[in-house]
Amino acid sequence: MEKYAIIGGHPLHGEVEIGGAKNAALAILAAAVMTDDPVTIENVPDVMDTNVLLQAMERIGVKIERPERHTVKMDSSDIYDCIIKDEYMKKIRASYYMVGALLGKYKRAEVPLPGGCNIGIRAIDQHIKGFKALGAKVSVSHGSIVAEAKELRGTHIFMDKVSVGATINIMMAATMATGKTIIENVAKEPHVVDLANFLNSMGANIKGAGTDVIRIKGVERLHSTVYTIIPDQIEAGTFMMAAAATRGDITVRNVIPKHLECITAKLQEIGCRIYEYDDAVRIVAKDPLSSTQVKTLPYPGFPTDMQPQMTVVLGLAQGTSIVTESIFDNRFKYADELVRMGAQVKVESNTAIITGVERYSGATISAPDLRAGAALALAAMAAEGETLIEDIHYIERGYEDFDTKLRGLGAKISKVKTERDLTKFRFQIAN
Ligand code: EPZ
Repeated sequence: MEKYAIIGGHPLHGEVEIGGAKNAALAILAAAVMTDDPVTIENVPDVMDTNVLLQAMERIGVKIERPERHTVKMDSSDIYDCIIKDEYMKKIRASYYMVGALLGKYKRAEVPLPGGCNIGIRAIDQHIKGFKALGAKVSVSHGSIVAEAKELRGTHIFMDKVSVGATINIMMAATMATGKTIIENVAKEPHVVDLANFLNSMGANIKGAGTDVIRIKGVERLHSTVYTIIPDQIEAGTFMMAAAATRGDITVRNVIPKHLECITAKLQEIGCRIYEYDDAVRIVAKDPLSSTQVKTLPYPGFPTDMQPQMTVVLGLAQGTSIVTESIFDNRFKYADELVRMGAQVKVESNTAIITGVERYSGATISAPDLRAGAALALAAMAAEGETLIEDIHYIERGYEDFDTKLRGLGAKISKVKTERDLTKFRFQIAN
C-alpha cells in the first residue's frame, strides 16, 4: 500500500492551480445521462470518485471519451439498463445521484446504497421523501435503492433538513417531471448552483438555485451542451490552510474568491493576510496565529469539509480554540492521530477544544477519511521531522495530484510503496 512520506517544518511558498470541483463533477456527470444528445464537460477532476462513477455509467451503456485529462464527452443515447450493479459504487456516496438522473429520464432506477461512512451516519430519508412527493414508489431492496414511477408530477416539497445530496437528487428528478416543482429549505452550496446551471444549459427550467427555494418547470427532453465545472472550493481551501499551517505564502489560482469567503474570513480572523484577485487568492501567514471559534454550517457557513484542516491550523495557534461540527456526527476521528503528532485536542461529543502548541512532531499515522487525511498531511508539513501517512487512497478520492501540487509549493513529500522508496526519499531530502 502506498503511503505519503513527509518531512515537515518548511513553509510552503508559490502558486497552485485549483482543479474542477469534485462534488459538482459527481452531480453533473450523473445529470449528463439525462439527455440522449452528446454532452461535453470540461474541468472534470481526475480523481477516484469521478472515475468510479464514469466506469459505472459505461457499464449501463453510456459512451465515454476523454479527449483530454479534464474533458469528458458523453453519449447516453444507448443506455440499456437502469440498474447499476457496480460493487465499487457502494464506496462512493454520490452513486445515489444516478437515482435522480435515471428516475427523471427513464422513471426507473436501481442503485446500490452507499455503505457505511467514516464521517458518520448519512441518512437518505430526504431523498426518498422528495422522490415519493414527485410520485415515485421507493423501496430499499437487497442493498439497493429502487425508485420507479409511471409519471413524475411536479409538487411542493419542504425539506426537513438542509441536504446537498437530497437537493441535487430531487432537482434532477423534478427537471423531467410534468408541471412545476417548488423545493423549499434547499442547500445553497456552489455545486448545487453549478448543477442547476448545467441542467439549464441542457434546456431545463430551474430558478432560484443558490437561494432557499428552487423552482423547476419540468421539461420533456434535454439537449446537448458544452459545460465547464466550477473550481473546487474545498481543494482551494485546503491549500489556503496549508499556507496557514506552515506559515507560508501561497496563491491559489483558478478559484472563485466569493466561494472562499467563509474560509478567508476565518483565516483573517486568526491573523493571516489575504489578498483577493479576480480568480486567485493569496494567503500570507507570517505573523503568529491566534485562537478562534468555528462552527460548521451549510453554505454560506463554514464548510464541514474544511473542519479538519481548520482544526490542524488552530492546533498551532496561540490560545484555546473551539471547533463545533454541526453537520456530521463522526467527523473528529482524526483527532487521535493529531494528538499523536503532539496536538492538544480534546473532543467532547461534536466539539473539539484545541489548545495551541508551538509545533507538531512527525509520527506514523493513517488517514481516516478524505478531508481528515488531507488535514493530517498539512499537519505533517508543519511538523518537525518525518511523518508517514497510511491509507492515502482516501485522499486520492478527492484531491488530484495532491503530492505533486504540494511539491510544487516546496513541500518535502513523496508517495512511497516500499522500504527502498522510503530510504531513497530520505536520501534525496538529506542530499
Ligand atoms: C455532500 O454530502 C458532500 N458530498 C460532502 O462532501 C459534504 O461534506 C456534505 O455535502 C456537506 O456539505 C458530495 O457532494 C458528493 P448532506 P451529502 O446530504 O450530500 C443529513 C467530501 O469530503 N441528511 O448535505 O451526503 C446527513 O446525515 C464529502 O467531499 C439527512 O438527515 O451531505 C448530514 O448530517 C464528504 N437526511 C446532513 O444532513 C438525508 O436524506 C448533511 O448531509 C440527507 C442528509
